[in-house]
Amino acid sequence: MAVNTEVKDLAKLYRDQFTVFNNVTYMNSCSQGALADSVRASFDTYLKTMELNGSAWGDWAGHQEKVRGLIAQFFNVPASEMAVTTSTSAAVASLASALDFSGKRKKIITTENEFPTIGQIWHAQESRGAKVIHVPSKNDLTVDMSALINAIDDETLIVSVTMVCFRNGTMTELEPIIEAAHKKGALVLVDAYQGVGAVPIDLSTLKTDFLVGGVLKYMLGVPGIGFMFARESTTKHLIPTTTGWFAARDIFAMDIHSYDPAKDARRFESGTPPIPSLYPAAAGMELLLEVGIHNIYNYVTPLHEELREGIESIGGKVVTPASRANHAAMLAVASTDEHAHVAALESEKVVTSSRDGNIRISPHFYNNREDVEKVIAAFAKHKSFLRN
Ligand SMILES: Cc1ncc(COP(=O)(O)O)c(C=O)c1O
Repeated sequence: MAVNTEVKDLAKLYRDQFTVFNNVTYMNSCSQGALADSVRASFDTYLKTMELNGSAWGDWAGHQEKVRGLIAQFFNVPASEMAVTTSTSAAVASLASALDFSGKRKKIITTENEFPTIGQIWHAQESRGAKVIHVPSKNDLTVDMSALINAIDDETLIVSVTMVCFRNGTMTELEPIIEAAHKKGALVLVDAYQGVGAVPIDLSTLKTDFLVGGVLKYMLGVPGIGFMFARESTTKHLIPTTTGWFAARDIFAMDIHSYDPAKDARRFESGTPPIPSLYPAAAGMELLLEVGIHNIYNYVTPLHEELREGIESIGGKVVTPASRANHAAMLAVASTDEHAHVAALESEKVVTSSRDGNIRISPHFYNNREDVEKVIAAFAKHKSFLRN
């Protein structure tokens, strides 16, 4: 299947900014985005601040705010509603610390599609009175919407759902869940890590209370930066008890006798930000915003379809739903031995990753049809790993 001619050929425009393609066929953006030249150069900019000024706190603080603003731009929300954290886990742990499970609302309703960190953080709240309920998925691994919605009741404090499952690429329709939770007076947390940078997400219309993610996958950044959107109108009463001086209303008050958290989403932050990671985070997002998330979504769609057709034509089983509304960028293929399979593909210079018995193939705007053909050829050569 050819790439739709109305869709800009993004790989043609941007691929030469990614040196990794001189070495391998990289299709593992669900794990780590490919390194852009501008992201690489941003490390040098950071190091130069140290050579020029020794400690460049002014510049560094400016970068933290720049990153906050860029992330907010992705979601079409004010920067004041965005916390910049060191990981998704740090953000969710901070949110959890703000929740009170001692009253009637003790339930956390969640799914079977969550990343381990989400389940682990919620179960850690059981010692504080929380009751965690996992709603079973359907046989095709998609979220059972009616079971999930029926599980939300007057005792539900928060509904915690992942947008795109890290194991199989299933994307969940969020609007009905958010609507049902709000009807019952419950909050909603969306883990969007596997969606952000690949799928447009507009939080001015998607009314979740919280949304978390990080920058190292489709957003082209590096480890060290996560984020949490906290909608001011519905979450301002929640004050975390996991905190630090960078979450204080006045960071430089240096007051050790009281806790005076920031009024905005910065209250969910903690200590000194990971400054060296801020520079590449900003560079990656600037490039991505230039490319445009809608353009990326449209460009990757036919690559994804072509991968599916190719894998199925050689007898492979794709476990990611086919409907465009139910998947993002990742395509998961059932494997008999995921680790050996990834290594076999790597021996053909095709880089993928695996989880839970599936090989994950995750194209982005820098991949092209030749990459797709190489991936399919490598799968065909190592057909014995395909599981039905
Ligand atoms: C969907 C999802 N959520 C959360 C995480 C973990 O994020 P962090 O390591 O930043 O806490 C990942 C990492 O792969 C993920 O895929």
